[in-house]
Amino acid sequence: MEKVLSGIRPTGNLHLGNYFGAVKSFVKLQDDFECFFFIADWHSLTTHPKPENLRESVKTILSEYLACGIDPEKAAIYVQSDLKQVLELYLYFNMNAYLGELERVTSFKEKVRKQPDNVNAGLLTYPTLMAADILIHKADYVPVGKDQEQNMEMARLFARRFNRIYEVEYFAEPKSFHLSDKAVKVPGLDGSGKMGKSEGNAIYLVDDEATIRKKVMRAVTDSGPVEPNQPKPEPIQNLFTIMEIVSDRSTFDYFNDKYNACEIRYGDMKKQLAADINAFCAPIRERILDLRGNDDYLARVARLGAEKAEASAEKTLREVRQIIGFRN
Ligand code: ADP
Ligand code: TRP
Repeated sequence: MEKVLSGIRPTGNLHLGNYFGAVKSFVKLQDDFECFFFIADWHSLTTHPKPENLRESVKTILSEYLACGIDPEKAAIYVQSDLKQVLELYLYFNMNAYLGELERVTSFKEKVRKQPDNVNAGLLTYPTLMAADILIHKADYVPVGKDQEQNMEMARLFARRFNRIYEVEYFAEPKSFHLSDKAVKVPGLDGSGKMGKSEGNAIYLVDDEATIRKKVMRAVTDSGPVEPNQPKPEPIQNLFTIMEIVSDRSTFDYFNDKYNACEIRYGDMKKQLAADINAFCAPIRERILDLRGNDDYLARVARLGAEKAEASAEKTLREVRQIIGFRN
């Protein structure tokens, strides 16, 4: 059976961007593929989180994965740091990764610009660790948002290079996976750009009704169109994009027609959007709050996931060691 793998760093709560860009595909794919969904806690160390925050964030993402509908009986849900095999593969890939190409990765260059006093080696080798995450299970598909495309290209590069160096056809190139024909980008409500934690514009799955409403009502708009059937300015387009994602088609069409007829009332549209986001989040939020306190259950899920992941990882590593020339 073909394999699917993806991970998210534990740096807070999941938001609508994470859900529609990534987690929604996880839930869909678990029925038809052998799936591995993990929490990338090693990756999050590049920012030196406090131990208690790291611990809490891992539990948060674990409960949010489950609340979104990832089923631990179907998919292996695990914590990256429970799968030590990844570190060994990370070391091997680092031996074949060149300084120049790692320095050219856009997200690395961005970090160098934004945090010049913390350009650590973990940041530089972020793509090799991600490649190890993926290739330790020889995953065929990786559901991720558009922003991960360059890391995916690096993973494919490291897979090809390993094959070339050792003259084997061992690793297949992992493919990015999107539910629709192009990668989803959930926009923010602050006028431009994507929804994200660091952008400070996120609506979280766990947000309550009042918080959702407050965030949506604050969304940037303008004084409205003055001519019919005009293209929408970015902040308005973003509002419509989110509505297209969470609301019914008929609701979207209603407001879109109003816009095109220059009769749009943004206040009404925002109220509707807030209600629809809340209707979407409410059942998930309830499950998050329920699961969040159940440490025993979360620990059991992580243990079960780690066992499944270990079996798969151990097999790859045995073969890789043999290929490299270690005695087994
Ligand atoms: P954040 O940008 O909030 O820090 P992450 O970088 O941890 O989120 O992203 C985790 C996953 O969610 C990745 O697969 C990423 O592509 C996806 N993702 C994050 N934000 C969005 C968004 N606004 N639209 C679509 N996908 C997103
Ligand atoms: N880099 C991803 C992010 O920032 C997280 C991640 C780490 C990942 N390892 C991965 C995603 C392997 C997919 C596959 O969101």
